[in-house]
Amino acid sequence: MDFFGKRLSGPFTIPSGIVTTATSIIQHFFDEVPEVGVMTTKSIGPDPRQGNREPILSQYAPGNFVNAVGLTNPGMSASAALLATLTIPEDRFLLTSIFGGSLEEYVAVAKCLAPFSDGLELNLSCPHAKGFGMAMGQDPELVFEIIKAVKAAVDIPVIPKLTPNTDRFGDIVRAACDAGADALCAVNTVGPGYTSAYGHPILSNGAGGMSGKGILPIALKCVREIRAVCELPIIGCGGVSSSHDVLAMQDAGASIIGVGSALTGMTTTDIKDYFKVLASPEPSVANTAESKIRYDLDMAFKPVTLIENQTVCDDIVLLTFAEDFQIKPGEFVFLWVPGVGEKPFSVLCDKPLQLVAINVGEFTESLMGLEPGHETYLRGPYGQAVAPLTQQKVIAVAGGTGLAAVYQIARDNPGSQVFTGARTAERLYYLNECRDIASVHVATDDGTAGFSGRVTELLEEYLKTLPSAELKDLVFYNCGPEPMVHAAVAVQNRYAQPHQIFSAIDYLTKCGVGICGACATPDGQRLCVDGPFLNPPKTASTP
Ligand SMILES: Cc1cc2nc3c(=O)[nH]c(=O)nc-3n(C[C@H](O)[C@H](O)[C@H](O)COP(=O)(O)OP(=O)(O)OC[C@H]3O[C@@H](n4cnc5c(N)ncnc54)[C@H](O)[C@@H]3O)c2cc1C
Ligand SMILES: Cc1cc2nc3c(=O)[nH]c(=O)nc-3n(C[C@H](O)[C@H](O)[C@H](O)COP(=O)(O)O)c2cc1C
Ligand code: FES
Repeated sequence: MDFFGKRLSGPFTIPSGIVTTATSIIQHFFDEVPEVGVMTTKSIGPDPRQGNREPILSQYAPGNFVNAVGLTNPGMSASAALLATLTIPEDRFLLTSIFGGSLEEYVAVAKCLAPFSDGLELNLSCPHAKGFGMAMGQDPELVFEIIKAVKAAVDIPVIPKLTPNTDRFGDIVRAACDAGADALCAVNTVGPGYTSAYGHPILSNGAGGMSGKGILPIALKCVREIRAVCELPIIGCGGVSSSHDVLAMQDAGASIIGVGSALTGMTTTDIKDYFKVLASPEPSVANTAESKIRYDLDMAFKPVTLIENQTVCDDIVLLTFAEDFQIKPGEFVFLWVPGVGEKPFSVLCDKPLQLVAINVGEFTESLMGLEPGHETYLRGPYGQAVAPLTQQKVIAVAGGTGLAAVYQIARDNPGSQVFTGARTAERLYYLNECRDIASVHVATDDGTAGFSGRVTELLEEYLKTLPSAELKDLVFYNCGPEPMVHAAVAVQNRYAQPHQIFSAIDYLTKCGVGICGACATPDGQRLCVDGPFLNPPKTASTP
């Protein structure tokens, strides 16, 4: 199909802020998901914004979500530099979503990003980020002024994205058309709405925008209203997941169909398969797309009872809970402390549940002195469990709290070797437990315990002694600070093939279910659904 001079490879988009929020993911989808012909970026504003602290996403019923990401973005200048790195195929359309706090800001962002974009989507409709978007998007005069000013400033298509949260939707559509909009996108999230668990708001922002299956009827109503008053192309999104929904959107008047929340919980491979099926011209195939939606996704918090908070050293604690927790090696959880937030953790041990935390910021600081009995909850498990082949011998390489990610892998695979490193002896923990289940090799930078030097140097000393017949049956699991993981991979590459090496690097992980894209790896995977252990190790420094 044609869209503003481009013959698109496919009729779908993923709406702004969902999955394709980092350039590495965008490029991966350009290269591998032709059904997504229009690539919509995360909304970009004039200045960098960290957005809200986690929780940023809550599921209130299967397939239905409330989010308050808070317009996280690196700002227009950094975004321009990132977008400039993209190779946009001829048959894809890069739609850059922008927002501002004033007319002047919309124009400034538009001018900055237009040279790197095929079109601009104006986010006039974010229901939870105060001062941005929706307030302006609810006022037909302001909508008119913003679109007119942006149109005058750039010479690429300008596509306002409209909020459904207004009783003046028709007036707003007319204002957008009169101002010269080239197409329209509808809808943004509905609400704001509110979710709670155990008497506490789940989102750190309190309220957020509602998306997913339940908002489809509202989206269809809005798209119909647009089509009733104008002939402009429409990008229709909101609650689409099945081939039936796609037909309903097309029937309402949309030519590009956005599928967003329906992708929650899917790995990158799942998403590729899903779009392939959804785009099939064969109805009997397309109709199976809905069966791929992760309605089984569990985002509910389960109460856990902290019974011991053991200080390892100034900035590391070992948390022991009363409960056992069913989790496979390699998977991870979110720990939620109401009023403080939630953050991802590996499970050091499942029986009883034990976590280890290192103090790097607000949430982990709060764990340092967390009293036994304090209210805490877990959600998960998430991520892909690891599965060494039966003949493979595990070599686990851990730095700092990375031991939490590899202890269970070693425990469940007899004959494993655990290499654990720390700056000083006082930062080591869980050694006796490790010695009970594996051969343990300890390194400290200052020589206060075990080998004096880096754990990766100790690893190389060990690998040197192995005959090649043994080397080919090794499988490596690395977890720790990024420089340690890179150093471990560099050593392992000298003795083994890339398919034997798996690494988990703690990229910033916010939703944990694949939707926000915060955990993008340099090669466009999402750590929380595709990892955390990824093979081959995807790092900025490895080709
Ligand atoms: C799958 C997974 C498993 C993890 N397991 C453990 C574990 O077992 N034990 C443990 O102590 N930690 C673990 N982490 C890391 C832990 O989640 C972060 O340290 C924690 O989220 C920091 O939160 P905070 O509020 O204390 O810091 P914040 O206030 O959020 O951040 C402090 C500073 O660190 C930066 N930052 C925060 N998180 C990250 C990150 N992941 N990557 C890069 N920079 C970041 C921030 O930008 C900020 O500059 C894991 C992370 C992942 C993704
Ligand atoms: C986690 C999340 C982040 C979002 N971020 C943005 C954003 O930055 N800009 C925007 O215009 N819409 C944003 N949206 C709204 C979506 O683009 C889309 O309009 C909405 O979710 C409805 O589609 P869906 O039901 O298919 O998800 C976000 C939605 C979610 C769930
Ligand atoms: S996609 Fe949100 S943290 Fe991975």
